[in-house]
Amino acid sequence: MLLGIISALHEEQAGLVEALQGPSTLIHGKREYFLGQLWEIDAVCVLSRIGKVAAAMTATTLVEKFGVTHILFTGVAGAGDASIRVGDIVVAESLVQHDMDASPLFPRFEVPLTGQTHFQPDARLSLRVSSAAHAFLDEDLTHAIAQADREQFGLTQPRVHRGLIASGDLFVHEAVKIDAMNAALPGLVAVEMEGAAVAQVCHELNVPFAVIRAISDNANEHAAHDFMGFVKTVAAQYAFHITRRLCRD
Ligand code: ADE
Repeated sequence: MLLGIISALHEEQAGLVEALQGPSTLIHGKREYFLGQLWEIDAVCVLSRIGKVAAAMTATTLVEKFGVTHILFTGVAGAGDASIRVGDIVVAESLVQHDMDASPLFPRFEVPLTGQTHFQPDARLSLRVSSAAHAFLDEDLTHAIAQADREQFGLTQPRVHRGLIASGDLFVHEAVKIDAMNAALPGLVAVEMEGAAVAQVCHELNVPFAVIRAISDNANEHAAHDFMGFVKTVAAQYAFHITRRLCRD
């Protein structure tokens, strides 16, 4: 197994690069790829930057140039449903590009000429990622994240959800917008800006992948403020400990 790990921002992956054993780096396409071993697993870590094109470019490079056999996307997302709270974790069961709309030529959300609106991650890898998320919440959270930060973000009893993640080139920051997306996309659990692009690339290149996101905000009028606070303070702890559990356990 050679695991490619993608995050959009530095704060979503901080700590993992430092944990790499026998590290080496390679710059390609304006990105720095970090190679090494994470808890005995051969891995390549990289920051995609934000958005679908950036993520697709990065995923394609991981497969075509570095020969990764699996891809994990780890980062943060806005809540896609009122039942999902900041600090909860979502693991994708399915992904859709919410800004794909070539209607009336093709049905809304369908990626033209693929016949697909939704892309499915690898069931086995996603199950392992979910188990790692549960282990993090049950066993690591209280010592990994300072009490003051847990109180600030209301991380009392975070939960793991599985469901639909919608991606698009849009930072969702209006309640009316997220409500409309929730109504249009049954089973929506989170919105972000990369996962479904990685999903399409992995589908087309036949590479198993999983997407895991910590909820940083409610995709409403407070989203930018909440997102910044979460990313600066706790996002890295989520990514580091969940990946550690995934590779080690
Ligand atoms: N990533 C984290 N929060 C987000 C939001 N509200 N919209 C899009 N991507 C996000």
